[in-house]
Amino acid sequence: MNKEVVAHIENLEHTYSSGHKALIDINLDIYKQEITAIIGQNGSGKTTLSKHFNGLLRPTAGKIFVNGKDVASRRVSEMAREVGYVFQNPNYQLFCPTVLEEIRFGLKNLKLSDEEIKARSREVIEEFDLRGMVKKQPVTLSSGSKKIVALASVYAMDPEILFLDEPTTGQDQYGKTKLGLLSRKMKQLGKTIIIISHDMDFVAEYADRVIVMNESRVILDGTPADVFSNEEVMKTAHIMPPQIYAIGNHIHAVSSETRLSVMELAKVLAEGDYCL
Ligand SMILES: Nc1ncnc2c1ncn2[C@@H]1O[C@H](COP(=O)(O)OP(=O)(O)OP(=O)(O)O)[C@@H](O)[C@H]1O
Ligand SMILES: [Mg+2]
Repeated sequence: MNKEVVAHIENLEHTYSSGHKALIDINLDIYKQEITAIIGQNGSGKTTLSKHFNGLLRPTAGKIFVNGKDVASRRVSEMAREVGYVFQNPNYQLFCPTVLEEIRFGLKNLKLSDEEIKARSREVIEEFDLRGMVKKQPVTLSSGSKKIVALASVYAMDPEILFLDEPTTGQDQYGKTKLGLLSRKMKQLGKTIIIISHDMDFVAEYADRVIVMNESRVILDGTPADVFSNEEVMKTAHIMPPQIYAIGNHIHAVSSETRLSVMELAKVLAEGDYCL
């Protein structure tokens, strides 16, 4: 199956006015209906890269295209319809008196008719299972529910690409699983998800593709299995891969030369088809 490109990045560079080169020679395609994770240690350039998708930051060299259009020629307000952001701290994103109004807020800004706003918010409330909390005040919700409401309110505006910046910060296991499953659901509903995260277990579980950044450059791009089993790159980027990959690196499937995903490793172990 041919993958559809939703964002194309060509020789992108960003140098801040301080003189710091935060992005160097970035070349990437982002594919529709994939969950792509961007990982890398603090200061490696992840947020700087994400801000180029909606024009909040402009390239100092190179280009970025979203849906085939050069972002340089478009306003940030225009791009907001195509690229949505869910910030690390939902408290900065939630300000309406009720969850329902929160979901409808963005839709009103899109100048949809009352009928359309009602229909779309009903749909999102169903999809995100928010029926029980529509009348609640967002600030009174648990940290997990706040995150889900923030995600739902961005998703409601129907952007092509959704950025989730550190989605699992402050979440317990239940909250993480819920966010992971919702990401998969949004993907099935046609969305392209980009997750910026330091939570390697979450990335290993839910990402289709992992992009590793280090010192302003992309140093590896591949499946979670490819990336987490690359001990050299993990060391360079100061990333601790999920434990399961550390085990996998020392177990070789008798029948396979390739790196193993978590599920494949479980299968190999269950079948006893390995050597140490
Ligand atoms: N407005 C700015 N002016 C100058 N330098 C900046 C600015 N914003 C970020 N930087 C620098 O650019 C580099 C990349 O920062 P960025 O925020 O993109 O990293 P990050 O990978 O998102 O890090 P984190 O994991 O901590 O969120 C860092 O060295 C940072 O100090
Ligand atoms: Mg960041």
